[in-house]
Amino acid sequence: MTIAYPNNQALQNPQPVSPPSGAQRPRLTFLGTGYLGATYAVCFAEMGYEVLGFDVDESKIAKLSGGEVPFHEPGLDELLRKNLGTGRLRFTTSYEEVAAFGDVHFICVGTPQRPDGPAADLSYVETAVTNLAQRLTRKALIVGKSTVPVGTAEWVEELVHRFSPAEAGVEVAWSPEFLQEGFAVEDVLRPNRVIFGVRSEWAQGLLYAAHKGVFDLAQNEDREVPVVVTDFATAELVKVAANAFLATKISFINAMAEVCEASGADVAQLARAIGYDPRIGNKFLRAGLGFGGACLPKDIRAFQARAQELGVGEALRFLHEVDLINQRRRQRVIQLAAELLARHNGPAGPDLSGLKIAVLGATFKPNSDDVRDSPALAVAHKLYRTGATVVVYDPEGMALAERELPEASYAKTLTDAVTGADLVCVLTEWEEFRHADPVALAELVAGRRVIDARNCLDQLVWVRAGWQYRGMGRPALT
Ligand code: UDX
Repeated sequence: MTIAYPNNQALQNPQPVSPPSGAQRPRLTFLGTGYLGATYAVCFAEMGYEVLGFDVDESKIAKLSGGEVPFHEPGLDELLRKNLGTGRLRFTTSYEEVAAFGDVHFICVGTPQRPDGPAADLSYVETAVTNLAQRLTRKALIVGKSTVPVGTAEWVEELVHRFSPAEAGVEVAWSPEFLQEGFAVEDVLRPNRVIFGVRSEWAQGLLYAAHKGVFDLAQNEDREVPVVVTDFATAELVKVAANAFLATKISFINAMAEVCEASGADVAQLARAIGYDPRIGNKFLRAGLGFGGACLPKDIRAFQARAQELGVGEALRFLHEVDLINQRRRQRVIQLAAELLARHNGPAGPDLSGLKIAVLGATFKPNSDDVRDSPALAVAHKLYRTGATVVVYDPEGMALAERELPEASYAKTLTDAVTGADLVCVLTEWEEFRHADPVALAELVAGRRVIDARNCLDQLVWVRAGWQYRGMGRPALT
């Protein structure tokens, strides 16, 4: 059933549900204070809820309690400090406190790829749910937000029934999230849809109450928030299907980039031209270095693994191809580097020893410090393996990048990174790189060669400043 809040009057006031704690509005807890849980905790406090964030990591909780966001997310620091000040937002490492406080418990822990294969590792979900369930003494709703294989919600329900006291009547619901790093605050306060995977009127009513802040904000701004009320399996699939679609869209345009490279066409113009068709749309159609991050790569792999288990592996076989196209873009940068530096690119890769390469960008996308499965760092590593001296600069991701790729050298500024470089590779489209002055940089480098792996620079301006420019899926201008 699809309904739109707040304008659908009939559904605006579903069965009122009183929070089991006796509070006026449901008290919310968020278990796992990574990018997802911390952002949700802060934003729901901002919407007026009493919120308790939980994590097993004491240093993370100490930082959050002290008003420091342990990762880079625009706008979140201010909101955290503001809401700690109101007293509505607190953080803890105690399951007892979470159990005693909350009416609705959101499970926001990570579900990384298992080290031994493509499937998702559900051990953090299991730990959070079992530890919470055994401490609950009254009715509550446990809501899964983590991205999980279809079927997980039912398993969580079994865990809850096994570990929580039967008389409490604890229920489970599933409500996936779609926040994008860099826009996380906006995505939580103003979601483009909300999904309620529920099994009872009570769960739906309490979830509605727990999201009333979202609907009220929309009403004030004269917007609607579509709500899809559905079963567990559909709710779980919504998330992975959406991410599979986004990954496919990116790999589609990157496959076109390969064809453009072979035929002399320009993928940026091609994307613009097909994107004007509203059935296709121009979003997520930027060809370049492909997708990375903590979600898309692992989600498409876990989705395939789950489909295989369900006996429908063939249906998702194309996602394997999506993954391969994505990986090939990384290799393409090495090929372009060899071409520009006039070195032979043999089966073992080119030998670029004795050359200095400036790598601009380490994070998987701009406005984030996240380097998990970052295409930029993967390319930096490949460049390092060619024997070149690789000097990395990133506006926000340096600390995490150094931990992930200690083999590379790190420069404090863009200028330091490019000084004396034989080749400059722009691997993440930070504003600072887009607006860099090619005339000034030309004076610093040893060779005016640039690879624009995100197609984010003005090709003509760079060529006019004397640079040999190579983009992705675009013919070389001279
Ligand atoms: C993604 C989904 O967008 C979000 O809804 C979900 O909740 C989590 O996963 P995120 O990982 O923050 O969010 O990043 P996103 O903005 O989707 O970008 C993913 C990757 O795709 C980045 O590496 C980005 O550079 C790349 N990308 C994106 C492209 O290469 N081309 C595009 O056109 C768009």
